Amino acid sequence: KNIVILISGGGSNMAAVVRTAEREHWAKRYGAKVALVISNKADAKGLDFARAQGIATEVLDHKSYPSREAFDAALGDLIARYDTPEQPALVVLAGFMRILTPAFVERFAGRLTNIHPSLLPAFTGLHTHQRAIDAGVQFAGATVHLVTAELDHGPILEQAVVPVLPDDTADTLAARVLTQEHLIYPRALARLLEGH
Ligand code: GRF
Repeated sequence: KNIVILISGGGSNMAAVVRTAEREHWAKRYGAKVALVISNKADAKGLDFARAQGIATEVLDHKSYPSREAFDAALGDLIARYDTPEQPALVVLAGFMRILTPAFVERFAGRLTNIHPSLLPAFTGLHTHQRAIDAGVQFAGATVHLVTAELDHGPILEQAVVPVLPDDTADTLAARVLTQEHLIYPRALARLLEGH
């Protein structure tokens, strides 16, 4: 089974999945490998890591498409090249900063995952860490979920909790949450690959 990871930036979650797949021998265990990393930004840092690992990369710039629908159709067609007749690819959003159309979500339903840096259903959308601090919550975290048409919704696969500390800024909280993201995203994918 091919795993296709979509990024827009640093790609640290993508790197965590790649490293875990290697360390835990996902190829042998699940017949799964990270086959392709796609970025909608040519300068995404994560592309360098993927290339250094010998993973195929593609850049699909959303700005060169006339509409969201056209971009999503091209993106879907690119991913579909990594489906095999027996095994549809697993499509992993990892800091991919584009909202996907219902048609795209439908096309990859049940095999499309996302990670969001909050304890969903709290704090959907952007600026989650500042909003968590402003709300005075004592715990924050991250959520891996299956993607449905509604933004940052869909069945929850894994969550992790971290404390919000008195002196936290959005950056310090984000860093604490991110270390947990790197643990739960690979774990959630392994469970999916095991058939849970
Ligand atoms: C992560 O916090 C992720 O949850 C959010 O964007 C960030 C991406 O970080 N959607 P990276 O590109 O994986 O380093």
